[in-house]
Amino acid sequence: MGEKTISGFSKLSKRGKIKWIVENFFKDPDAVTKELTSYWHGNAAQQKVLDGFSENTISNFPMPYGVAPNVVINGKTYCVPMVIEESSVVAAASSAAKYWMSRGGFKAEVLSTTKVGQVHFTWPGKAEDLFSFFESVKGDLLTDVAELTARMESRGGGITNIELLDFTKDHAGYYQIKLYFETCDSMGANFINSVLEAMSANWTQRVKANTDFEGADQDVDIVMSILSNYTPECIVRASVSCPIAQLDSKLSEEENMALAKRFETAVKIAHIDPYRAATHNKGIFNGIDAVVLATGNDFRAIEAGGHTFAARSGSYRSLSFCEIRDNEFHFWLDIPLAIGTVGGLTTIHPMAKRSLDMLGAPSAKELMEIIASIGLAQNFAALKSLVTTGIQKGHMKMHLLNILNHLEASEKEAELTVVHFKEKAVSFSGVRAFLDQLRGVKNPISSIATSK
Ligand code: MEV
Repeated sequence: MGEKTISGFSKLSKRGKIKWIVENFFKDPDAVTKELTSYWHGNAAQQKVLDGFSENTISNFPMPYGVAPNVVINGKTYCVPMVIEESSVVAAASSAAKYWMSRGGFKAEVLSTTKVGQVHFTWPGKAEDLFSFFESVKGDLLTDVAELTARMESRGGGITNIELLDFTKDHAGYYQIKLYFETCDSMGANFINSVLEAMSANWTQRVKANTDFEGADQDVDIVMSILSNYTPECIVRASVSCPIAQLDSKLSEEENMALAKRFETAVKIAHIDPYRAATHNKGIFNGIDAVVLATGNDFRAIEAGGHTFAARSGSYRSLSFCEIRDNEFHFWLDIPLAIGTVGGLTTIHPMAKRSLDMLGAPSAKELMEIIASIGLAQNFAALKSLVTTGIQKGHMKMHLLNILNHLEASEKEAELTVVHFKEKAVSFSGVRAFLDQLRGVKNPISSIATSK
């Protein structure tokens, strides 16, 4: 074993884990130990809850928890919690929300809520024999898992469809049982995966027991059983619209029309060019992920599904659309969002629970509408900046504040620096030099510790 490897790490206590890490990977073990333990939750019971979410935990990794107020969706006003480390995102969502608040707010509508799970297997026999056998036992396969689906059914969900698919053209012997689910207010991952695993075992047995398929070479070989994070039938649409003349009260009618057209072109570009589409959609996910995280949902699942949906035409495109119709500006977003408001982290993460309380304990459908609206707000704010002033102005303002924090500028120093850089390009070295000057440092730059 190498010098820095270890066996039995997971069995060490938390302090034991930290000790091994700081001794092996840091030059200043005491300081690092102090820092890591400083992020432990003050309440041991709460820390235990957090530790329970993962493995080998040694500390917590704090992220800013912000809110976007004034988010009007379908006539209801929300204050939306957002967990994100990127400056300007919450500010952009807030300003777009306020902007649309005075123009009728966001309209949002859940178009579908179906989720998908798959049993992938191979079978060596003739496809038509398998299909006719599948038809004859389809009902039994559903009855086999009735115990698992009973509770979900009592809540109005369950398995909504089952089909056998033939992929033998792509890979010899490869078939799939595709199941469609309604999981109500839960994201449903555990439910779906449990049903799939039970069904794959029952399917294997039923094929084995069928006397028409003789011999071991007629056995089903289950490759895997797992839900799909691609949910093109679990879609929400968020939209905004207003008369073009109302886009910007400071602009003339012609200028507003020019703005609308430029905005429309910017969205079109994201439908034409995948390079732009990736950045455009990233901006949408800036908003979406932040709310998904704040509400204890799985942002990796949401990203995977969203990007796959963006590529459904065969080329990767914008998730949002813009149209100018009858002198009206229309901007909307269609996105798959398989999220939940009960079960999983949503109920056990203390802050996720608070987030859902802040949103008025929404149903999964309502949360889909909120998340999509924030995605659209984010996209609107980004595009409006991009096609007018550019985004660097706003970004650099936030960047300057971060640099000032890092260099421990006093309030007065910060004030003077902000004025100084109003019309100048912000850079770390520029700000540091200006602060050195303010502080009357003889040998500037070297006097300030820049890496803490
Ligand atoms: C930055 O995080 C997101 C943007 O690049 C999105 C966009 O370009 O549309 C501003």
